[in-house]
Amino acid sequence: MKNVLQINSSILGEHSVSKSLSDYAADLLSQHRGAKITIRETGGLPHLTGETLAAFSNTSEALDAEGKALVETSNELIDEVKAADTIILGVPTYNFFIPSQLKSYLDFIARAGVTFKYTETGPVGLLDDKTVYVINASGGVYHATGEDLVGPYIEKIMGFIGIQDVHFVRAEGLALDQGANKESIITQAKNRLKEMLAVDEVTA
Ligand SMILES: Cc1cc2nc3c(=O)[nH]c(=O)nc-3n(C[C@H](O)[C@H](O)[C@H](O)COP(=O)(O)O)c2cc1C
Repeated sequence: MKNVLQINSSILGEHSVSKSLSDYAADLLSQHRGAKITIRETGGLPHLTGETLAAFSNTSEALDAEGKALVETSNELIDEVKAADTIILGVPTYNFFIPSQLKSYLDFIARAGVTFKYTETGPVGLLDDKTVYVINASGGVYHATGEDLVGPYIEKIMGFIGIQDVHFVRAEGLALDQGANKESIITQAKNRLKEMLAVDEVTA
């Protein structure tokens, strides 16, 4: 584990639970595994549009400046993912799903002919396999009750671009009991991260 890409998608800044847990995981990996951390915020990316899609698939005609900028943004995001062997993906649950900022990010990295291709037997992911640690924070409880929409989607889209090794750490139920258990849920998630990342001593 050398190059870690930390992807933050919360809108809550320093109050974000998924970001603070992702920071914790990144600190563990840099302090105990000597990993280099690259941070990507998903905020600010535009929604996918017909023009963007046309720019992504333009192989012959010259692109205008706007099209070029969109392709460059997408290429930069994909290069970051390619350079990473490990990804820490912070995912808040908003309105039962992932933040729209993260969806835009995924729309910019799922590109036909670049990160996946269509074959006669179906789509094939083109990214080398990597390990992804998904840190999902939610006010309610979904995974434990079998009603999780976020986890299955993240597994599906990662597999689609070729990434099969996906692990989840969940901080669920943060808003239950008027938030009384929040600290213990966060502590449990940190302990799970230490276990998963096989880090014994903790200074982070
Ligand atoms: C706009 C918004 C929508 C939310 N929707 C849900 C939801 O559908 N289900 C849920 O369990 N919690 C929901 N929550 C609570 C968040 O999941 C919780 O605050 C969590 O900590 C978000 O992760 P973050 O702190 O990293 O942003 C919502 C919070 C916000 C701000």
